[in-house]
Amino acid sequence: MKRRYSSHHCWRRAQSIDELAWMARHRLPAFAWEYVHGGSEDEITLGDNRRAFAAWGWQPRTLVDVDVRHSRTQLLERPAELPMAIAPTGYNGMLWRDGDIALARAAASRGIPFTLSTVSCTSLETLVAAVPNVRLWFQLYVLDDEAVRNDMLERASQAGVETLMVTTDTVVLGRREWDSRSYVNPRRLTLAHMLDAGLHPQWAYRALWPQGLPTLGNLVKYLPKEQQSAGSAAGYINQRMTRRLTWEVLADIRKRWPGKLLIKGILNAEDALAAKRIGADGVVVTNHGGRQLDGAPATLDALPEVVEAVGDSMHVLLDSGIRRGGDIAKAVALGAEGVLCGRATLYGLALGGEAGAAHAIDLLRDQLHNLMAQLGRPSLEQIDASCLRRSPYSPAPNESSRRPSEALSFKGAGGEIPGDMP
Ligand SMILES: Cc1cc2nc3c(=O)[nH]c(=O)nc-3n(C[C@H](O)[C@H](O)[C@H](O)COP(=O)(O)O)c2cc1C
Repeated sequence: MKRRYSSHHCWRRAQSIDELAWMARHRLPAFAWEYVHGGSEDEITLGDNRRAFAAWGWQPRTLVDVDVRHSRTQLLERPAELPMAIAPTGYNGMLWRDGDIALARAAASRGIPFTLSTVSCTSLETLVAAVPNVRLWFQLYVLDDEAVRNDMLERASQAGVETLMVTTDTVVLGRREWDSRSYVNPRRLTLAHMLDAGLHPQWAYRALWPQGLPTLGNLVKYLPKEQQSAGSAAGYINQRMTRRLTWEVLADIRKRWPGKLLIKGILNAEDALAAKRIGADGVVVTNHGGRQLDGAPATLDALPEVVEAVGDSMHVLLDSGIRRGGDIAKAVALGAEGVLCGRATLYGLALGGEAGAAHAIDLLRDQLHNLMAQLGRPSLEQIDASCLRRSPYSPAPNESSRRPSEALSFKGAGGEIPGDMP
């Protein structure tokens, strides 16, 4: 049944991430919704990520004292309240003004790390000044200019970044067909975009007012003068992403980066072992939330072989498709140290800024704690493969729910909007 969520704070009543997503869909103009929610091509991997979680059921134990339960753990050898961090996502300012800061504050208040993307709206320096108490991780997109890369590493180090996460699955962007429709070239705000924005005044007020679309804070200093606006910057960075990202480049980054190093883009044992050989501290098993290679394995399916290959000697995290506290538990049961969440907290951010993102984290945490009680495993150490059983029944519905945006693709005049975001 289609429900309209018009009240300002009704997202506080959302009981699941899917409900938050549904509300966010109504709150956002189509081009922003599609940017957040969509996947590449036929969105098979996007759906498989969810189906892989649904394919596992639970094996509960009964008559266990579960009065006290907690999900406190170590993530990369430091304490976290949940086995979870916020994933790097670009252009959070399109969802909420100063969206990166809002997400980082939500993470800090809930005791989990936050990852700032290379293509964030807020710069590293501004973020650290605004949220000094967050466990800050920084995600690096490797550009073709070595001087820029080294400068970003230096800035990350100066900013006190604890962990560097190098993303390796975006040497070219996946074909996100909704993006190609929504973002016309040159990347200009069309009449259709403006009409759509006008139909979503809450979004326009929360995200755009008063300064309009923000640019890419980390990259401003490297951009040519005439390409500093949001739309131009995104296109420029996309062109400058190196297509020559190899293990040699990663080995060089390893030499230069003294802190923890995670490689984000691993889907098999061979690459995990290569990451170990260059001295990385850990890997993120990911398919970029189904936004890159369509047909790539669901991450929960890829996890066991990676854990078997390097789980004893490296940190293994997983992302893509986490929508329930139970999904976090399934990843942990199959050997992950923790997970990253991308869209789950973005839906919350789009609805309520910091409070909305915190609400998303609270939902995941409460679901996890409830599950632990019902499973008869009141602490995370007790969650292992013995909790799981293969479900013989049907998998989750395909998450794909693109809305046709052909109607929005006619061109008009106007300002610039970001396009082709990593
Ligand atoms: C809107 C959006 C923007 C993203 N931007 C980045 C990015 O800038 N850098 C990056 O490494 N990954 C990026 N990702 C991928 C996420 O880090 C993460 O791998 C993915 O969102 C996990 O899947 P989930 O959204 O199902 O949790 C982005 C994902 C989304 C949804």
